[in-house]
Amino acid sequence: MSAFLSALAVVGSAVGMAFAEAAPTQNPVAEPASRCRNGAIWYDTDGHVVNAHGGGVLAHGGKYYLYGEHKVYGKFGNRAHVGVHMYSSADLATWKDEGVVLGVENDLSSDIADGCVIERPKIVYNAKTGKFVMYFHLERRGRGYSDARVGIAVADGATGPYKFIRSLNPTPGTYPVNAREEDKTPEALERSKREFRVSLGSSEEGRKALIYPAHVERGQDSRDMTLFVDDDGKAYLVHSSESNSTLHIDELTDDYLDFTGRWWRAAEKDWTEAPAICKKDGWYYLVGSGCTGWAPNKARYYRARAITGPWERLGNPCEGVNPANGQGPDRTWGGQSNYILKVSEDRYVAMFDIWRPDNQVDSRLVWLPIVFGDGEITIRWQDSL
Ligand code: GAL
Repeated sequence: MSAFLSALAVVGSAVGMAFAEAAPTQNPVAEPASRCRNGAIWYDTDGHVVNAHGGGVLAHGGKYYLYGEHKVYGKFGNRAHVGVHMYSSADLATWKDEGVVLGVENDLSSDIADGCVIERPKIVYNAKTGKFVMYFHLERRGRGYSDARVGIAVADGATGPYKFIRSLNPTPGTYPVNAREEDKTPEALERSKREFRVSLGSSEEGRKALIYPAHVERGQDSRDMTLFVDDDGKAYLVHSSESNSTLHIDELTDDYLDFTGRWWRAAEKDWTEAPAICKKDGWYYLVGSGCTGWAPNKARYYRARAITGPWERLGNPCEGVNPANGQGPDRTWGGQSNYILKVSEDRYVAMFDIWRPDNQVDSRLVWLPIVFGDGEITIRWQDSL
């Protein structure tokens, strides 16, 4: 299939601009590969535009399940008005619509009421319970981005329906396993209560602010996030916290429906969003972006010998230019990292979103193979996977 895809990619690159800009509702070309050219509109098997952003792909039972935020037209698309949409495929190229698997609710008192923010949903399968567990970044309706919560939902089958369980700030009453002793003192708590508000700024004062102790009682901020299941079956929520300045890695309970209360800080004050993780040959790799909202910036990656760190910052793994917009590695081809799918021992796919905050329904997906070196990775632009 890959020779077939790359042959079509050559043809596709010649017409890349035209495809990237037009937005027909029917697929003009029947070939599967034309449905998943990077940065172009993707179509499902009914000929409708694939609407799944900021999500990921679950591999289960010989099939792939693409899921993500269902976006609507215009700036309304920056809020959740529909929910999480899913598609299934046997080849990562031909996508069948499986519908909305977690819907927003009309009851305005619900945590996931129409108009809330549901971002970066991630789904993992729990082999012990046989359940499918979804986590997502949740901002309850009308609160801007101040809630910084995690939403949790569960289903009996990959295609749902997913039942919303609850939302929270993880994990009240706990300090990180790798906390500095001086951060746990009453003085640190008082200092943090004074400083966590200035932390939203990028001033020198903001950059030095001690943020997380002030949130120990309530639970920590959690915005951009991913889930990672390690080889031993333990799962972790990896999320941007402390006003997005520092990553937190939270261990989940055996059923993946709760937090054990053990968590680690990583990439301290490095301002990393959009974390995506994979493991290969004893190295854990974490790809992320800087913090510039929907606007693209330069990706960075880290590596570690254990999911809990310590994480070592390396450079920008991206190479090449997206011919449709002329953007290269300094702006991640116009996109932002999102998820890494392990297809096989040798094949890992890094997934990115090209956001369109004025009309999010027109946001685009970019899927690229990861090339592994000796403890290093490269992700090079190509026109399709
Ligand atoms: C981005 C983040 C997105 C979304 C956006 C809102 O930095 O990666 O998921 O939260 O900010 O401005």
